[in-house]
Order: sequence, then structure tokens, then C-alpha cells
Amino acid sequence: MRKQLRHSIAFLLIFVAGIVFAACQPNPTVNSQVTPAQTATPTTSPSPEVSIPVAYPDRELSASPAQLPPLPYETGALNRAIDAQTMQIHHDRHHQTYVDNLNAALKDRPDLQKLSVEAMLRDLNAVPEDIRSTVQNNAGGHLNHTIFWQIMGPNGGQPTGAIAQAINQTFGSLEAFQQQFNETGGDRFGSGWVWLVRNPQGQLQIVSTPNQDNPITDGNYPIMGNDVWEHAYYLRYQNRRADYLKNWWNVVNWNEVNNRFQASAQQPGG
Ligand SMILES: [Fe+2]
Repeated sequence: MRKQLRHSIAFLLIFVAGIVFAACQPNPTVNSQVTPAQTATPTTSPSPEVSIPVAYPDRELSASPAQLPPLPYETGALNRAIDAQTMQIHHDRHHQTYVDNLNAALKDRPDLQKLSVEAMLRDLNAVPEDIRSTVQNNAGGHLNHTIFWQIMGPNGGQPTGAIAQAINQTFGSLEAFQQQFNETGGDRFGSGWVWLVRNPQGQLQIVSTPNQDNPITDGNYPIMGNDVWEHAYYLRYQNRRADYLKNWWNVVNWNEVNNRFQASAQQPGG
């Protein structure tokens, strides 16, 4: 009888020890929820507070696949500053080439295709090194031109809304702002862009970027920008970039610039 009791106690102790051991093991259900893609790919998402759309005031630019957006006006609509042939070549060929090159670079990278163009440019270090410069140039070219077409229109004139007041407060007057903007665009050696941005401190600032770099890579929100690559102006202005910069104000769509200015207020410091 005692022997039977000892066996029962021993069995009970082994059973309890087994339960305790099992409880201390990692939970396989939790691990199975982490897919290989999540663990193998470094995160490219910036902190949520800076993930506001840049391509459009209300949405980011898809890379699955990237697509050429239509011009929001006829190619001749901006003739006060830019001729129809320049617009046609610029949009249909140059911008299309950035789109095609970006899609080719991401062809075998479905993990990157899931990201927006903005997400890739905000965190270029997370893009594999073998395609990083290709993505920087062509995602940048796609994003820059997508913004550029929107912030132009046939009826340029004086700024309206909150952006007008902000320009006066920051630069003193519209004329002072335009002069500084034009000088910065004129001083860009080679190819690039001149931008009005909201910087991470929430201030308006004029900056220039080389090549097809976009200001979001430096943490700035691009409110408006002018393309100072020769392909943007050479047919009408040849080497006279200053004349192009001066005339360009005749085709600025201030309503859209104002929309972007208000969207930029969502970023930290805004
Ligand atoms: Fe361009």
C-alpha cells in the first residue's frame, strides 16, 4: 500500500515538473506570426509623425508599379513661361524615363514595391546598396516631377491664402522671396532643383538639391519647387536660366502651393 502511495506521489511530482517545464518554453504561436520578410528586411518606415504624404496633399506615390501621372493641363497651357514642346518632352519622355527606370530597379524587389516612393526616399540607407543610387535618382525624379506638374498652372499671379502671409512673415515680401528663390536656383551648379520647404523646425526655408534629390531625404517638406535642369528650359531659353526662373512665376499655381503649405503643417514643428 505504502509502495503504491510512493509511486503515486512520484508520478504526481513528475507530472507537475512537466507542466512547469512546458510553461517556460518560448511560445511557437507568437513566433509564427513574424514572417521572414518582416525579419529579413530592415524597416524603412519613418516614425509615424513624419509620414505625411508629399507627392499629393492627401496621398503618397505608389511604386507597385510606378506610373506616369497625366499632366493636369494641355502641354501648351503654360506658354507664358514654358513652351508646349518642352512640356511634352519633359513629361512624356524625361518623367516617363524616371518611372521606367524605377520600375526596372524594383522589378525583383516586391518588398520595396510595397513601400511608397516617399518611404524609400526618407530612408535611403534601408534600400539595398546595389540599387540605392538608381532608386535615389529615379524615385526622386518621379516624385519631383509629380509635384512640379501640380504646382504649375496657366493662371499664375499673386499668392493667396495662408501661404501669402507666411511668405511675407518669413521673407519680408513676395519680391524678396522670389529674388532669393531665383538666386538659389541660379546658383545650383549643374542640374537640380530649388525649393521652398518647411524644415523640421517648422520654418519656411529656401533650399536647393542636386540631381533628382528630394528635400524629404533631409527631413524637409517640399512645398513648391522649380526644376533647373536644362531639359526644363533649354528649347526656349537656351543657357539663360535666370530668364526662365523669372518667367516661371507666371505659371505658379498658388492654390495648389497653398494646399501643400497647409499639408506641411502636419509635420513636427509645423
Ligand atoms: Fe525635369
